[in-house]
Amino acid sequence: MNSETGKTALITGASSGIGQELAKLFAQDGYNLVLVGRSEEKLDRLADVFKSNYGTENVTVINKNLAEEDAAQDVYNQVKAKNITVNVLVNDAGVGLYGLFATDTDWEREKSMIHLNVLTLTQMTKLFLYDMLARDEGKILNLASLLSITPTPLMAVYAGTKAYVYNFTQSLVNELKDTNVSITALLPNATDTDFFNKAGAENTKVTDELQDPVMVAKDGYDALMARKSKVVPGGLKNKSYEVLSYVAPQETLAAVMRGKMSQKPDEEEPTISLAWGIGIGIAVIAGIALTIGYKNTSDFQKARYRYKARSAGNSLSDTLSSVVDKVVETVVDAYQNTKEKAGKLAVKGEEVEEELAA
Ligand SMILES: NC(=O)c1ccc[n+]([C@@H]2O[C@H](COP(=O)([O-])OP(=O)(O)OC[C@H]3O[C@@H](n4cnc5c(N)ncnc54)[C@H](OP(=O)(O)O)[C@@H]3O)[C@@H](O)[C@H]2O)c1
Repeated sequence: MNSETGKTALITGASSGIGQELAKLFAQDGYNLVLVGRSEEKLDRLADVFKSNYGTENVTVINKNLAEEDAAQDVYNQVKAKNITVNVLVNDAGVGLYGLFATDTDWEREKSMIHLNVLTLTQMTKLFLYDMLARDEGKILNLASLLSITPTPLMAVYAGTKAYVYNFTQSLVNELKDTNVSITALLPNATDTDFFNKAGAENTKVTDELQDPVMVAKDGYDALMARKSKVVPGGLKNKSYEVLSYVAPQETLAAVMRGKMSQKPDEEEPTISLAWGIGIGIAVIAGIALTIGYKNTSDFQKARYRYKARSAGNSLSDTLSSVVDKVVETVVDAYQNTKEKAGKLAVKGEEVEEELAA
């Protein structure tokens, strides 16, 4: 019998993506499940799959829009009414929204996103954590993001909500350190789910390189079980981005992320060196044009110059983004080469020792 048999994991956002993969891992390990979300039909189907594939004994589906006022309290009340003890809470449900904050994005959608990503996650944590502490037992996994630690133009509010989730979770890590209750933040890079389609960001450059949600969920699950404070899935490359986010100036990070969040070009991208050349060329031309003509020109011309300068800035941030990627790749390659060489030297050393001994 699995040691986790009989325990219950409550997962929000289990109907798709990372949440669904996490739910599968809990089911495989013998947990009973409470699946919370809006797509009741999908969650019911998932419950049937878990019961037949993994022999899950109890799956409770709670149909709830978690962006509604007091949604968390209602979920908690339903769980209590069913006499279910939640041993693990996974706050996965979350949405994004793409566009310029001032002119593109809709406030009602932003308000709903803040409610779901921040308010509901916080209240769910408060309600279930209190009971976990009373039992001195339990685990919580909160879905943050690599965007939690970088300013992200064109997804400014979403990144703000994830910065909150990360900061909030790390504060609780400290508050809980002398208890048997743990809390873990999961910080995935861009992952291959429906997230970007729903956010209206499906054609952005960041979607060129998506991670597998199965791998993301597994890394999150393992970190949760090991009671780690946080995990960045995806190996050294994503860890390098994390380190870069701590050391690089916020303005530079914002420029890099602006490049990553920009729309893919219709035609093939020029190579990096060409992009550098074009970016710098445009910046120089725009700079000269602005310096010479700006003072003695009409308002219309001034607006045109401002537009050109902004376009040049965007080209440069795209280029900067590619250069940062290249730097990270080079560091990762160098590390791996050194590791391989060290491995080979160690084997050689052992061979020499054996020869000397013989
Ligand atoms: N994909 C990425 O690149 C990425 C990267 C870093 C972090 N994350 C985070 O990972 C989490 C999961 O996202 P995902 O990538 O797996 O996207 P996804 O496939 O779109 O899953 C989002 C889940 O949240 C649920 N949800 C959305 N709005 C809801 C609401 N109002 N009430 C209840 N449930 C709601 C969805 O269910 P219904 O829509 O069926 O209700 C779905 O199950 C999110 O918190 C996201 O911010 C994603």
